[in-house]
Amino acid sequence: MTDNLVLVDHPLIRHKLTLMREKTTPSVQFRRLLKEISLLLGYETLRDLPLTTRRIETPLAETEAPILKGKKLALVPILRAGIGLLDGMLELVPLARVGFIGLFRDEETLKPVQYYSKLPNEMEKRTTVMLDPMLATGNSATAAIDIVKEAGAKDVRFMCLLAAPEGVENLARAHPDVRIITAAVDERLNDMGYIVPGLGDAGDRLFGTK
Ligand code: URA
Repeated sequence: MTDNLVLVDHPLIRHKLTLMREKTTPSVQFRRLLKEISLLLGYETLRDLPLTTRRIETPLAETEAPILKGKKLALVPILRAGIGLLDGMLELVPLARVGFIGLFRDEETLKPVQYYSKLPNEMEKRTTVMLDPMLATGNSATAAIDIVKEAGAKDVRFMCLLAAPEGVENLARAHPDVRIITAAVDERLNDMGYIVPGLGDAGDRLFGTK
């Protein structure tokens, strides 16, 4: 596949993902599991955040200790399923700024169309983490990243739960500089653009809609 892909296949994540895939898992548990996995994926997504140091005093001594450097992160969930990854990320980085991007699929052209976008200022100075549990065709991921790059974002990562090989390939082709962090790459997409075996419609399962 691509060098940009980071597969986070910790046993705890694999176990929780299996519970999420099961069709009988209710929304309340599905949401909780996604939040738990987002904490674990988040560590990996932010592994290389730049650090600086600060002189501090412990109860025993003065020392030069590491702290995060630079502007606050931008977390950008793609509506609506991306919201399921947001709470966990905000627990890891409570001071992060949050932007939202809403896209729908034009049924004639099958292309994503933006209906909402609200992003933090100074995107060019922030590490940006796009959040969407499902990387399926890669079309909406590509369009959402186009939007944050137009706003100036330079260091962009895409964090998802499940990816289809087609989505990984398309996104890597469109945005070769964007690292993709996922818990699993499934077999394929079906004719409707769903990931197989997947877990169904992530938004519906998160929010109890159909
Ligand atoms: N979006 C979903 O929610 N599920 C899929 O399988 C693909 C895209």
